[in-house]
Amino acid sequence: MTVRTSIEKATRSVLGAISLQTEAQPDILDTLQAEHDEVQELLSKLVDSDTGREQKSLVARIKAALVPHTKAEEKVVYDAVLALKGGPAKVDGNEGYIEHGLASETLKKLDKLTANTPEFKATAKVLKELVNHHIKEEESNIWARVKENFSDERRAQMNRDFLLAKKKVKLS
Ligand SMILES: [Fe+2]
Ligand SMILES: [Fe+2]
Repeated sequence: MTVRTSIEKATRSVLGAISLQTEAQPDILDTLQAEHDEVQELLSKLVDSDTGREQKSLVARIKAALVPHTKAEEKVVYDAVLALKGGPAKVDGNEGYIEHGLASETLKKLDKLTANTPEFKATAKVLKELVNHHIKEEESNIWARVKENFSDERRAQMNRDFLLAKKKVKLS
């Protein structure tokens, strides 16, 4: 190998390493956004649905989307926000936990009800309203804390932790 080709080869590998390093890693907030959009769409379909069969299948899909999302979000995002200094951040983190609890109870209730009855439809509406309210606040309050306090690298790590934590959640 001539000196020139070895220099060219070395240059290519250095440039390759640099481009690998600067390649943007997925951000936790992008993953959360995509999952919020998905569950909101499923909830809209549920409230608009006229058949019991479709309603039951949508409840199962909502459960499969919502339960791992909320559990992993608590572990990876809320607990990181709760660990920040200052009372207001802790209020946001606690509010998130409480709203997840309310959504989870409402979803469990919905799961036990007979589909296409007035009680089922009312419970589905309440779940949709709860989740929409929760997502709106989370995307403004919790995300502002994440953007303000965590670097791009930390957010990429949070994304990896979130995906891993989701896999460990069991649907009861
Ligand atoms: Fe969320
Ligand atoms: Fe949440």
